[in-house]
Amino acid sequence: MGLLTLLLLCFSLLLSLSSGEVSQTLGLCYGQLGNNLQPPPKSVQLIKALNAKRVKIYDANPKILEALKGTNLQVSIMVPNQLLANISKNQTLADEWVRSNVAPFISTVKIRYLLVGNEILTSSDEVTHNSLVPAMHRIRASVKALGFKKIKIGTPLAMDVLESSFPPSNGTFRADFTGRIMKPLLQFLNRTKSFFFLDVYPFFSWASDPVNIKLEYALLSATNITYTDPGTGLTYTNLFDQMLDAVVFAMKRVGFPDIRLFIAETGWPNGGDVDQIGANIFNSATFNRNIIKKLTAKPAVGTPARPGTALPALIFALYNENQKTGQGTERHFGLLYPNGSNIYPIDLSGKTPPSEYEPLPKPTNNEPYKGKIWCVVAEDANRTDLVSALGYACGQGNGTCDPIRPGGKCYRPNSLVRQASYAFSSYWAQFRKVGGTCYFNGLAVQTAKDPSYGSCKIPSITL
Ligand SMILES: *[C@@H]1O[C@H](CO)[C@@H](O)[C@H](O)[C@H]1NC(C)=O
Ligand SMILES: *[C@@H]1O[C@H](CO)[C@@H](O)[C@H](O)[C@H]1NC(C)=O
Ligand SMILES: *[C@@H]1O[C@H](CO)[C@@H](O)[C@H](O)[C@H]1NC(C)=O
Ligand SMILES: *[C@@H]1O[C@H](CO)[C@@H](O)[C@H](O)[C@H]1NC(C)=O
Ligand SMILES: *[C@@H]1O[C@H](CO)[C@@H](O)[C@H](O)[C@H]1NC(C)=O
Ligand SMILES: *[C@@H]1O[C@H](CO)[C@@H](O)[C@H](O)[C@H]1NC(C)=O
Ligand SMILES: *[C@@H]1O[C@H](CO)[C@@H](O)[C@H](O)[C@H]1NC(C)=O
Ligand SMILES: *[C@@H]1O[C@H](CO)[C@@H](O)[C@H](O)[C@H]1NC(C)=O
Repeated sequence: MGLLTLLLLCFSLLLSLSSGEVSQTLGLCYGQLGNNLQPPPKSVQLIKALNAKRVKIYDANPKILEALKGTNLQVSIMVPNQLLANISKNQTLADEWVRSNVAPFISTVKIRYLLVGNEILTSSDEVTHNSLVPAMHRIRASVKALGFKKIKIGTPLAMDVLESSFPPSNGTFRADFTGRIMKPLLQFLNRTKSFFFLDVYPFFSWASDPVNIKLEYALLSATNITYTDPGTGLTYTNLFDQMLDAVVFAMKRVGFPDIRLFIAETGWPNGGDVDQIGANIFNSATFNRNIIKKLTAKPAVGTPARPGTALPALIFALYNENQKTGQGTERHFGLLYPNGSNIYPIDLSGKTPPSEYEPLPKPTNNEPYKGKIWCVVAEDANRTDLVSALGYACGQGNGTCDPIRPGGKCYRPNSLVRQASYAFSSYWAQFRKVGGTCYFNGLAVQTAKDPSYGSCKIPSITL
């Protein structure tokens, strides 16, 4: 071994030691908003099989913590949003929460991060906004009093805490949050040597402006696209770094240049609605594999504003979750199907070379869809629920369901699924432009395939 190699080795060893517990390791967000997911013990096996080193849950579910007993996974748990207002005013409540949710597992589960609320500043609930930092102080006091020294307190925030994120050096927190919430929050994080937990989704930024942002730049697979920030001269090679540095500069702007980032969520949907762009298995696998490669590199890569900095991270999510509301992409962020099968091969250790993966299915929706879309009954819809959703849809608008009434063109065959598909499509065709969605609690999905039959023509929207 040459002297230089030896020196380099020592140097990278030093680097990895100095970053201490905050190693470049990746984990998963274990969301549970599905009615068909694997039970906790099986889920924990699956998390380990994906080579995750960390896991985050969105509560303190004792069944999951029980299943995590004795594993090496570094665990993040969460105080639910709706408790913050009361906890912020009452130390006894904070103590009780920590005593009943954390204490029973502290000696057998590696609970390392206690997150207070989830994307609190994304909601419009002023009371909860103002409770955030006081609740964090109270939870920390409880954790300290019980002597749980390894637990850091934080709170995941989304990119919407910024009012400007471009160019990255122009990163600025929303003015209405800065003095009132962000400064006290950053002071807390700085003093306690905690992290700024950030949920960061290049997918949504790209999808909102696919003309100006190149897809490869958002997927971290561009080899020939760079952006140089005129404010700093720093050169970016992907959108993810740009978004992270916008937060770094926003913190710097208010006097906290050194708070570390922790990626509390990132990912790319493997599917979505017909009227959404770029949500497919190819892009999802590409983004997640590229992120894993970047964030497991040794020594750490960091970002242009913070080269060489370790970035602990959690990929969203373990499963596709069928009970998440919102657009179809929300229900398609998983690495796994609800039955536990991989959607595509992936290895969170970063040790599988990309060349070892089989080719992925070609993306078909990287351009905006043009054509007709219908809103039809989802495959596994519950028939009881379907009857009430049909009733609801038919009660909206003008003559929404006339053709499926006796004597109407779509009445026969008298099938619940066909009639509900008519009702959903007819409802959506009238209300999409004023914010109506094709969702119906998961009973409905968009399709580009015309469900019309016989002389029954089902209404559609046209993009
Ligand atoms: C908060 O406290 C009030 C007053 O004690 C109580 O009525 C309410 O149920 C509490 N809220 C929650 C979410 O526990
Ligand atoms: C704080 O919470 C505890 C436990 O629920 C309750 O007994 C007590 O009355 C609360 N204190 C105040 C001031 O609301
Ligand atoms: C920088 O951010 C401010 C808002 O904080 C915005 O008004 C301005 O347009 C941004 N500058 C650029 C070059 O985008
Ligand atoms: C942040 O923490 C560091 C180290 O503890 C300290 O030196 C610095 O003054 C703090 N910054 C602010 C703005 O409080
Ligand atoms: C970058 O390379 C890709 C593939 O080689 C090519 O399709 C694309 O046009 C190039 N983009 C730029 C900005 O040169
Ligand atoms: C799991 O679900 C997926 C998607 O529905 C399906 O393609 C796959 O065959 C299922 N795997 C098993 C083992 O049932
Ligand atoms: C359908 O939903 C109803 C309540 O909405 C529930 O009681 C019933 O068990 C569900 N049926 C199935 C097969 O899941
Ligand atoms: C239904 O008809 C009424 C009266 O003609 C009209 O005011 C209303 O806007 C219509 N609603 C929809 C959803 O088209």
